[in-house]
Amino acid sequence: MKEQNVKILVSRIFPDLAVDLLKKAGFSVTSWNQDRPMTNEELISRAKNHDALLCTLSDTIDQNFLNSCSHLKIISQYAVGYDNIDINWATKIGIPIGYTPDAMSDATADTAFGLMIAVSRKMFYLHKTILKKQWSYFRPTANLGFELKNKTLGILGMGRIGMEMAKRCKGAYNMDIIYHNRKKNDLAKKNLNARFVNFDDLLGLSDIISVHCSLNDKTKGIFNKSAFSCMKQSAIFINTARGLVHNETDLIEALNSRLIWGAGLDVTVPEPMQPDNPLLSMENVAVLPHIGSGTMEARNEMARLAAVNIIEFYKNKKVPNIVNPEVLT
Ligand code: GLV
Ligand code: GLV
Repeated sequence: MKEQNVKILVSRIFPDLAVDLLKKAGFSVTSWNQDRPMTNEELISRAKNHDALLCTLSDTIDQNFLNSCSHLKIISQYAVGYDNIDINWATKIGIPIGYTPDAMSDATADTAFGLMIAVSRKMFYLHKTILKKQWSYFRPTANLGFELKNKTLGILGMGRIGMEMAKRCKGAYNMDIIYHNRKKNDLAKKNLNARFVNFDDLLGLSDIISVHCSLNDKTKGIFNKSAFSCMKQSAIFINTARGLVHNETDLIEALNSRLIWGAGLDVTVPEPMQPDNPLLSMENVAVLPHIGSGTMEARNEMARLAAVNIIEFYKNKKVPNIVNPEVLT
C-alpha cells in the first residue's frame, strides 16, 4: 500500500512532532483533537476506518477493541508501559505493538528522586501549612525530616528507569543499592555495585524502596499489608510505575499505624485521585498527578519514537521498539 493511502488514527493531542513525521512520510493522518480521551465506542468506531493507531495509556485496547479492529496493521503506543493493551490477544491475532522505552527514563527517575526528597523533608505538607497561615516563628524542633546520605535504596524493577534512579541516589547520597528484578542486571553490578536480593530482603533491608517495574500478574498488588509490615518503620515507599503495584488501602493503613515512615506516589488507583483522599493530608506523603514522563524532552522523544515505529513498519516491515516481536517473524 502506498503511504498516502494508509490512514493513521492518532488518539490524543501528542507533541506536534508525531503527526509532522507521519505526514512527512506521506501518511494520511486523522487526529482526535479534544483534550479528553475518546470513549471506547468512539475509539472503536474511528479505528474501524483506519489502518494503524497511535495511542496511549488512556486508551483501552482490550479484547473487545482488538476483535472489533482486527484489521489494524500496527498499534503504536506512546508510553513505556502498555498495561492498557491486551498484548497476548494482539499477538494472537497478529498485530504488532510498538512502544517508546528509554525516552522517559531520566524524567521518571527525576520524579522518583524528587518525591523521595520531598517525603524525607515533608515538603508537600509543609508547603500547604503556608497556605493555611500556619507559618509562624522559627521552631528549632518542629517539622523535622531526615537525611538521605548513606541510606540503602531498594529498587523493584532494575530496568532503564530503575538504573537512572539508582545512579542519582548513588551520586547524590552515596547510597547502597539493592534491587529485585526478573533477572540480574550486570550493568547495575558493574557501574553501581548494586546487589541482587530476593523480594523479602528488599523489603527488610531498604531505607527507601522505589518501584520501577511494569505492571503484570506478578507485580499487581505486591506492595500489600504483608509487604509493608516487612519494611523498616523508618522506610519511604516511592511508586512512579503503576498504581496497581501497591494496594492503596493497605498503604494508608501502613502509614497510619506507622508500619512505614512515608510515601511518594506519581501513580494511583484510580487516576485521577480524589481530592479528599486521606493520603493527601498526611504529613509524610507526597503525591503527583502521573507526571513521570512530563518533560518537553521526554514527550518529544516519545512522539518521535511512536511515529518512527509506524513509519519503519510500513517502509521496512520493522518496528524498532516492539513489545511482541514474534508477530513479525
Ligand atoms: C507512562 O506512564 C508510561 O508508561 O510511559
Ligand atoms: C523500567 O523498569 C523500564 O526499563 O522500562
